[in-house]
Formats: sequence, structure tokens, C-alpha cells
Amino acid sequence: MVREIVVYPDKRLKQVSKPVEVFDEELHTLLDDMYDTMRAKNGVGLAAIQVGVDKRVLIINIPLEGIPEGEEEQPRENTLEMINPVIVEKDGSTKFQEGCLSVPGIYEEVERAKHVKVEYCDRHGEKYIIEDDDFLAIAMQHEIDHLEGHVFIEKLSFIKRKKFEKEWKKRKKAS
Ligand code: CO
Repeated sequence: MVREIVVYPDKRLKQVSKPVEVFDEELHTLLDDMYDTMRAKNGVGLAAIQVGVDKRVLIINIPLEGIPEGEEEQPRENTLEMINPVIVEKDGSTKFQEGCLSVPGIYEEVERAKHVKVEYCDRHGEKYIIEDDDFLAIAMQHEIDHLEGHVFIEKLSFIKRKKFEKEWKKRKKAS
């Protein structure tokens, strides 16, 4: 089921999400709904707080390249579901143009660590560790930021942030 996305500057996006303690049916429904919502909006990642649930849950599904016309670029089974993720190692730095379903239509270059190692649980509470130094590393950092109550535009320079806020107000008025 597609849920409603919480849009900036909604205060809920500033909440620090709480650890998941029970890996039950409610969690599985949340994850399934998050997938439906992310796909409906053509996103590559989504944190639970973006559908108003303050739990440390996120999903990522990076589109595959070179897929024949008509085939699914983001197959369901490629969805990475991360519960209680923790960055245990990070190094290097890289810049990438990011977007966010909670700040629709805005794309800005953001600096992040190039390489991260993340510990997390799957939907059954099984522990895993994943390492990346490519797009997935950026996506994990972006989504984990949401769990801490941060959106990517907070990482912009003062000038760029001002410009964004002005532009955002203008758009809100127009819609
Ligand atoms: Co986001």
C-alpha cells in the first residue's frame, strides 16, 4: 500500500527515529508499504520517517543499468532493507547530486564519505554487514541521515541553502 510522503519542512523529518526491537508483522507491512511508496514515486531510497514512522528502518533500491525495454529496472528482490543500521567505518570523500522524495524536484550536490561499512539487521532480525564505495554508499548515508532527523539540504553551503529556502517558498505558494 502506498503511504503519504512527509514533505519538507514538516517537523517529523527532524525526529530522531527509535530502534526496532520487535521484528514482527507490523514491521514487514511497513517495509512492504515503503517499497510500494518508493516505487510509486520513482525513488531509490526511503526512510520510515518519510512515511511518518519514527523507527530506524530504511530501504534502498538502486536502478539496474542496461535493462532491456519493458523490463523492471528496480526489481523488488533487489531492495536492500536495513533495520537499525549503524555506520561502523567511513573514509574518503566524494560529491554527488542528490535528491529526496521529501524535497521533491530539488537536486543538489552534496559531499559525503566515499566508503562506508554499515551494520544492520534484515526484516527477521538477522545481522549483516555491508561495505560500498559507490552509489550505494551515498544512498546509505543519505537514508541514515533521515534516521537522525536530517535532510540532505542541511549539508548545503549557507548561500545555497538560502537560495533553496527562497525557491522552496516560491514553489509552495505556487502549488
Ligand atoms: Co531523502
